Amino acid sequence: MNLHDAPAGISADLPAEPAFMVEIHTVVNGRPMQCRVRARQHLADMVRDELGLTGTHLGCEHGVCGGCSVLLDGAVVRGCLTLAAQAGGRCVETIEGASERGVLRALQEEFARRNAAQCGFCTPGMLLTAHELLESGVRATRAEIREHISGNFCRCTGYQAIVDAIEAVMARRGDHRSEAR
Ligand code: FES
Ligand code: FES
Repeated sequence: MNLHDAPAGISADLPAEPAFMVEIHTVVNGRPMQCRVRARQHLADMVRDELGLTGTHLGCEHGVCGGCSVLLDGAVVRGCLTLAAQAGGRCVETIEGASERGVLRALQEEFARRNAAQCGFCTPGMLLTAHELLESGVRATRAEIREHISGNFCRCTGYQAIVDAIEAVMARRGDHRSEAR
């Protein structure tokens, strides 16, 4: 392992063997767990291959398409660029966990209503990225919604229906917030 590549939180004294294992304590979808992961294993591979959470998709595997998006401490990260070891001491949430918690329900319903998911390959990453924007509380313009999801590629929909869906959920939330004041 090139020590200059050592991720934050991992000792720079790690041996150079590619198969070197790191023990981490992490929380995945609300479940605390202790795992031994390969030092160079990516988070997307860990959740898919070790935990069977295959809703995290792998497309380009070099940080371009956003298919591998997961939440790390609530922020969207690329699972193909994040090392599994970097999840140590942190909370990972995948599309499965966020769906089970129900936090994506409004987005999922709106995506379904507007046909914003066609083949569905981009949809998990797109939903998590849209959720992150909604959670920020910002009332974004369509241009800002497009910018926020610009790291998530969709090859089917042309994005119009996706932006419509996010905008519709955002508008409803904005209405609820104003009613609560
Ligand atoms: S698979 Fe990670 S960004 Fe494409
Ligand atoms: S719905 Fe097919 S890639 Fe987005």
